[in-house]
Amino acid sequence: MFLFPPPWRSCFCWRWSVCLSVCLSVCLSVCLSVCVGESGRLGQRSTSNKMLPERVAALEGYHVGQVSCGLNHTLAVSLDGMVFAWGCGSCLGCGSSETTSLRPRFIEDLSITKIIDISCGDSHCLALSHENEVYAWGNNTMGQCGQGHTSTPITKPKKVLGLEGVSIQQITAGTSHSLAWTSDVYLWGNGRYGQLAGMGTNLMIPTLAPSLLQTQQLLACGFRHSAVVTADGKLFTFGSGESGRLGQRSTSNKMLPERVAALEGYHVGQVTNDQWSDFTD
Ligand SMILES: *[C@@H]1O[C@H](CO)[C@@H](O)[C@H](O)[C@H]1NC(C)=O
Ligand SMILES: *[C@@H]1O[C@H](CO)[C@@H](O)[C@H](O)[C@H]1NC(C)=O
Repeated sequence: MFLFPPPWRSCFCWRWSVCLSVCLSVCLSVCLSVCVGESGRLGQRSTSNKMLPERVAALEGYHVGQVSCGLNHTLAVSLDGMVFAWGCGSCLGCGSSETTSLRPRFIEDLSITKIIDISCGDSHCLALSHENEVYAWGNNTMGQCGQGHTSTPITKPKKVLGLEGVSIQQITAGTSHSLAWTSDVYLWGNGRYGQLAGMGTNLMIPTLAPSLLQTQQLLACGFRHSAVVTADGKLFTFGSGESGRLGQRSTSNKMLPERVAALEGYHVGQVTNDQWSDFTD
């Protein structure tokens, strides 16, 4: 069923039939390009598209601290560390890859700890606990869940291997690769385009990045590329250079991190890669 959002509901015309058909055609064309509710990824108890922001009612009573969107799923974490997932597939972390959830579901397997950071890839998820442990689940075709194999999917959150005793500060997921940092950068998953800093094409467990990146501060992953800001505010990018996304004055792939020369003289404070913008540019 199509529901008119408030602005359309209140539009006034002397001929209602004209108003209705104009409203409908505008609504439908915007819907197609703006907001697609397929798979229940909006968490609004339906798969219809929403043209205006609507509160996710199922999270009422929780103070949402962070949210991250994948291709067909969404994760949210409350300030007290509870993780909720909705949409379709193994990203629900409920032990099945067949389920679709139209509303946020609490991920029970993470209730043993308090989650402080989440990040969604295309179809895998990362979570960081207050004890600096990294969990991963979802699609693992490229080893992006860091389990030492490529069996897929991982239907429940599992600790990422090889990070025991490492005090991880931040995690970030790209389409099918993952990054984490402490005083060093660890990378795993799909490295085909150089997005793992030339460390390999398919790393199934976290691997230390070259020493060049050892004083990093912030990380971001995109479609097939990665970005790291060093402690002194220098921005390095690597991976697929398609569409000029690396900021390296060319569209060639970079297998090794390279400083974004155009930002020399600036202290970079934050970096973010909207992986889905790659599909529209
Ligand atoms: C996402 O959902 C679309 C349909 O909405 C489907 O065609 C596509 O295969 C799904 N992708 C993944 C990675 O689940
Ligand atoms: C899993 O990831 C691979 C590689 O990124 C992708 O081709 C595939 O569609 C994904 N499958 C699902 C079910 O998301």
